[in-house]
Amino acid sequence: MSERTLILLRHAKSDWSGDTADIDRPLADRGRRQAPGAGRWLAANIDSIDLAVVSPAARTRSTWELVAAELNVPPHTRIDDRLYAASGDELLTVVRGLHDDVETAILVGHNPGMEELASLLTGEPMAMKTSALAVITVSGSWGTVAPHASALRAWGRPPTPSPDDEPVPGDARMQSTEQLIHQHPLAYLLGLEGIALMRAFAGEHGRAFTEARLTEVRRLLDRADELGPGVDVVPLPLADGYDGWALTYDGEDNGCFPMRDDVLQPMLDRLTPGRVLDAACGTGAVAQQLLDRGHDVVGVDISEGMLAQARKSVPGARLFVGDITDLPLRDGGVEHVVCTLALTHLSDLRPFFAEAARVMRVGGHLLLLDTRGHFTGSTRYPLVKQARDGRVGYVAGYSHSLGDYLRAALRNGYLVRACEETYQAAQTVAPDEKPEPLTPGPPDIWELHPWVRDATNAAKAGQAAVVAWDFELRPEV
Ligand SMILES: C[S@@+](CC[C@H](N)C(=O)[O-])C[C@H]1O[C@@H](n2cnc3c(N)ncnc32)[C@H](O)[C@@H]1O
Repeated sequence: MSERTLILLRHAKSDWSGDTADIDRPLADRGRRQAPGAGRWLAANIDSIDLAVVSPAARTRSTWELVAAELNVPPHTRIDDRLYAASGDELLTVVRGLHDDVETAILVGHNPGMEELASLLTGEPMAMKTSALAVITVSGSWGTVAPHASALRAWGRPPTPSPDDEPVPGDARMQSTEQLIHQHPLAYLLGLEGIALMRAFAGEHGRAFTEARLTEVRRLLDRADELGPGVDVVPLPLADGYDGWALTYDGEDNGCFPMRDDVLQPMLDRLTPGRVLDAACGTGAVAQQLLDRGHDVVGVDISEGMLAQARKSVPGARLFVGDITDLPLRDGGVEHVVCTLALTHLSDLRPFFAEAARVMRVGGHLLLLDTRGHFTGSTRYPLVKQARDGRVGYVAGYSHSLGDYLRAALRNGYLVRACEETYQAAQTVAPDEKPEPLTPGPPDIWELHPWVRDATNAAKAGQAAVVAWDFELRPEV
């Protein structure tokens, strides 16, 4: 059966500042920067496109012009009135009417229709931000395309150049359904042994420790069957992972929360009262601390599930669904910005810093706090979670270096006022903690640690677990 490719492209960010009719609304400057990124992604990842079907709105036509300019061979383009304000079902009718000579087609349109069509075809709930793409494989003729019968190949917003026009490297923000990670319990345990041995080799431990590790490695290899096979873990859209986690998040005995509060509270105490954005506010723990200090609090988060909890626990805050790299706030609308335990989900920190600088006032403070270095030495930081519908997968994460934070801050006009680090307690595994049988599914690293207690404690000892920053937005010079 032949395969065809359907690409959905949502228009880039539009400019709401004028009173033009909706259909005439132009692209915002940011939208003009976003759109070529989608074109470059298509040029690099899609062999050729035969037909573009574009909504007649000014913002979709401009988006497509900027995207097409990046393609090696721009396809034939059809402006089609049926795409303007169309629902997912109406867009499906357009798809079914495509001629079978067309192997790859792109639809350039609007939300919610684009998201609805993507979900309708693939059966996967999908958020499409401005300038986002979804690449879908369709089997057979266009005329017989059926709901839930097509495969999602890639989706997300390709990298956008930051305002100083330096391109964001790589395409890590464009999630691909092919990014499985293989997690093998034995590999994790041997990895800890390896880190412990490296530290011993560098002089942190003596001969007896090294020999004990080597003996333990042999024992682990002999017991490999008991540890079970490795598991391929699929990526889970961030909002799905957090919608699922929201059900238990506040009640968990999560060691990050006391570390967060210990470091953050003195920083919060120093903020002058004003309007504060809690970016990626989650269930609102920090929003509450800001309210308690007399601030007017605005919270933004991408997960409806986390926000639903926040609405219950912090009714005094104004809460919005949104992306912290594309904030639904006006320029200079807040005094300060606080963001805790969330920047690890961004592959690149620069778009967030640019947005924070846009929405806050000169002289305001940007307080950041994140965990890092969780998977010693790895720049990745996957969080395995269960979505509400039972799917288990990982929410992507990244471990940023101090230099990543600093470079992103300095280029956006921030001064460093403080940088704090919190270190792991020396003993990650207590002396009396015994290994328990492992739960099936992706390995739970906390269940694994007691299996190699001394290696874990040695591997984790003295690592900075939390970093907190106080940046001040300095006046233009
Ligand atoms: C570990 S929770 C932290 C929540 C809260 N700040 C705290 O300290 O408890 C991370 C939160 O970041 C949100 N998040 C991650 N990436 C985001 C993004 N790009 N835009 C908005 N929210 C995001 C998630 O939905 C989640 O609620």
